[in-house]
Amino acid sequence: MTSTPIASKIIPKAARASLDPATIDYTSDRQRNAVEALINEFTISPQLLQDVKASFMEGMKKGLKKDGETMAMVTSYVMGRLDGSEVGSYLALDVGGTNLRVVAVHLTGGGEITTSQTKYRIDEKLKVGEAKALFDFMAVCVDSFLDEHQIVVRGDTQFELGFTFSFPVLQTSINRGTLITWTKGFNASGMVGKDPVAFLQDAFNRRHIPVRVAALVNDTVGTLLAHAYNHPDTCMGVILGTGCNGAYIEKMENIAKWKGDASAKEMIINMEFGAFDKERQVLPLTMFDNKMDRKSVNPNKQILEKMIAGMYLGEITRNVLLNLIDRRLLFEGCISADLNQMWTFETAYMSTIEADNSATLHATRKILESTLSFSSTTMNDRQIVKLVVELVGKRAARLSAAAIASVLDHTGDWKQKAAIGIDGSLFEYYPSFNTDIMDGLEEVFGPTVRQNVSIGLAQDGSGVGAALCALLAAKYTN
Ligand code: BGC
Repeated sequence: MTSTPIASKIIPKAARASLDPATIDYTSDRQRNAVEALINEFTISPQLLQDVKASFMEGMKKGLKKDGETMAMVTSYVMGRLDGSEVGSYLALDVGGTNLRVVAVHLTGGGEITTSQTKYRIDEKLKVGEAKALFDFMAVCVDSFLDEHQIVVRGDTQFELGFTFSFPVLQTSINRGTLITWTKGFNASGMVGKDPVAFLQDAFNRRHIPVRVAALVNDTVGTLLAHAYNHPDTCMGVILGTGCNGAYIEKMENIAKWKGDASAKEMIINMEFGAFDKERQVLPLTMFDNKMDRKSVNPNKQILEKMIAGMYLGEITRNVLLNLIDRRLLFEGCISADLNQMWTFETAYMSTIEADNSATLHATRKILESTLSFSSTTMNDRQIVKLVVELVGKRAARLSAAAIASVLDHTGDWKQKAAIGIDGSLFEYYPSFNTDIMDGLEEVFGPTVRQNVSIGLAQDGSGVGAALCALLAAKYTN
């Protein structure tokens, strides 16, 4: 088996250039009515935001009471806070986004960190093949990373590795747990109900790779820890990327289902909030969401995640465009062969279209004509496409705000100085996602929240956070 390193791509973040629907030169009343209906369906009104928040807070309470609830509210076994003085060198393996990453993390104290990393692309076949092959691939990547960076162990010691495995795992200790379900397009067989650490450790042992899996970490927990290393008042870690989820610090007395050590005052909870509203009680699902859900590898699961995360937004947009085309309200009823394929409308295109503020919408045109091979487009076509993109993008940001507001309300953290670390491509690159979230929080709590709560990019929460978790794990066991 070979592993291929891939280069990372940095795209500068732009602001949303909103299109006023009143400025569109509609081709017919039917087109205008169809657009108005879409605006209605996709807008998260202030009232709906409050309703989602109320139901979300209920879901949190249920998950804290017992296992098996829609929002798993997983106890992470991470107790106690960081102050930035922690030192040590660790390996981190990050699996669960678009790429797999191996990172060497050196914590030098005073909030200072140096890292070196390599990304590897995970073949689509591995994601849905046999679990053993997937974990063998992970071990091979770690091995080739150690070779590439000429990292060697002395004597018979082992490297301590923090394993960021960003799927719903019911943890049974800091480095043990069982997979509840796969998400984000992964569906490797023979893994649900099993311990991912055992699979990984076995793959290392069979290859005599001197690595010990010291901690099993969700990326949200890692993000919280990584942000806390520089911002000790961090109360929440959030991922808005291929998937979405959040973690926060909960008081032990509120975790009714916790049966373990009761001496600690608080513990980080991995909420698994992407699973919220499996019962379809409150989220305003459209037929475009349902169509995408049915075709996904995990239908009926991760309902909130599918309305927010980068893996799905493009496909929802494509479904809306297809519907308009079929009703002859867009592109004169003609589709391009490219747009006709599922998952071809990438969320990255949405970022570009959102930021397009040119008079002729030329960046939008380039995507439609050069990338998606429409032979020509009119200004009206481009405006409608832009509006649809904005509706889907803004809905995602406002639902993210509802989830974050729920946590801030539950903990009361909005009333004091608090930091939220957010990682993920959507937060990093999607125009105005951060602004929409802050606006949503202000809608719920009033202007004070802007003075108290800061949201910031916690880059590489998964790598650095896994190292910090491995460090904490050693503290607990010593
Ligand atoms: C997973 C979470 C993860 C999130 C972000 C979701 O699909 O269930 O565990 O934190 O994606 O990566």
